[in-house]
Amino acid sequence: MTVFHIDMFSYLLWFLTGRSSQLLSETVQEIRSRQPDAYIEAFQVNLSSYKSIKKFETSLYQWIQDSNMEHSVQLLINNAGMLAKSYRITEDGFDEMMQTNYIGPFVLTNVLLPLLKNSSTPSRVVNLTSFTHRCVSEINLSKKGLRGVRSDHCSARGSYPLASTYEYTKFCLLMFSYELHRQLHISSGISVMTADPGVVDTGIMRELPPCLSSIAFSVLRLLNLLQQPEDDTAVGAVLDAALAPPEASGKYFFGGKGRTIRSSQLSYNIELAKKLCAESLTLFNELQIKEHELGTS
Ligand SMILES: NC(=O)c1ccc[n+]([C@@H]2O[C@H](COP(=O)([O-])OP(=O)(O)OC[C@H]3O[C@@H](n4cnc5c(N)ncnc54)[C@H](OP(=O)(O)O)[C@@H]3O)[C@@H](O)[C@H]2O)c1
Repeated sequence: MTVFHIDMFSYLLWFLTGRSSQLLSETVQEIRSRQPDAYIEAFQVNLSSYKSIKKFETSLYQWIQDSNMEHSVQLLINNAGMLAKSYRITEDGFDEMMQTNYIGPFVLTNVLLPLLKNSSTPSRVVNLTSFTHRCVSEINLSKKGLRGVRSDHCSARGSYPLASTYEYTKFCLLMFSYELHRQLHISSGISVMTADPGVVDTGIMRELPPCLSSIAFSVLRLLNLLQQPEDDTAVGAVLDAALAPPEASGKYFFGGKGRTIRSSQLSYNIELAKKLCAESLTLFNELQIKEHELGTS
């Protein structure tokens, strides 16, 4: 799920977005059972569909308008992510994991930027990345590369490189975060953080055969590397990134207790990050044009 909040008469109004309306309503109920006076709204969004993000944008603006609230967002947490086991092409022509983990959050953040910029209090974007970004030693900035399109994997015999694709998506999200920080922090006061929860026992491996994921989790547990989602070190990194002072913008939060570490050397390459964001913006513009053409045809 992706989370963000709006300041409403000094109360915090939390928004949850997710793919499944049932999961969203269960999550809202669970939060309300713990905090009955929580201001919380849920919107259905599929990050691997540009149409779905646009639909969400329209509903959100309508909702803000109807509620007579300040047109702003203070905090956006791009948490949603997946580990796909096979090559699947979305309706927008992207590899599903690439669109869900990188292009989707890139588009959503850009769509919400006017609201983040409009905030009367300093606003923030938190992107969830992964230690696995360190495995990336080069990146393919061609449109095809960013779409994750690989003709060899369309064939029945081609095996999908799920680990390297996941690492690449998380690396791109990290580079985008650093570039967004450089573009926005000084000029508009928006802070941009990345959070790495470490190895956590969640549903991230749900697509893998159960025997494989349980072996992986058992080995990680034996090595004392596996954390539970509620552990201070796991959720702590995300909370730290959300609550740190704005001066910490551009940092990589890992390990909880406010700890920040350096990410891979390559992730600090400014030229590469600029090119990545420029190419991603081109893809975003293409999605906008295609949607417009479909709407007018
Ligand atoms: N677990 C780890 O060890 C680990 C380590 C480093 C980083 N991370 C990152 O932490 C974040 C959270 O993952 P997790 O470990 O909590 O895994 P998870 O339990 O599988 O949660 C992933 C969430 O993303 C949502 N999601 C997936 N595809 C989506 C889409 N197309 N549109 C909207 N929402 C979508 C899922 O929604 P549904 O419930 O509808 O499927 C689910 O709520 C991810 O970004 C992941 O890459 C995890």
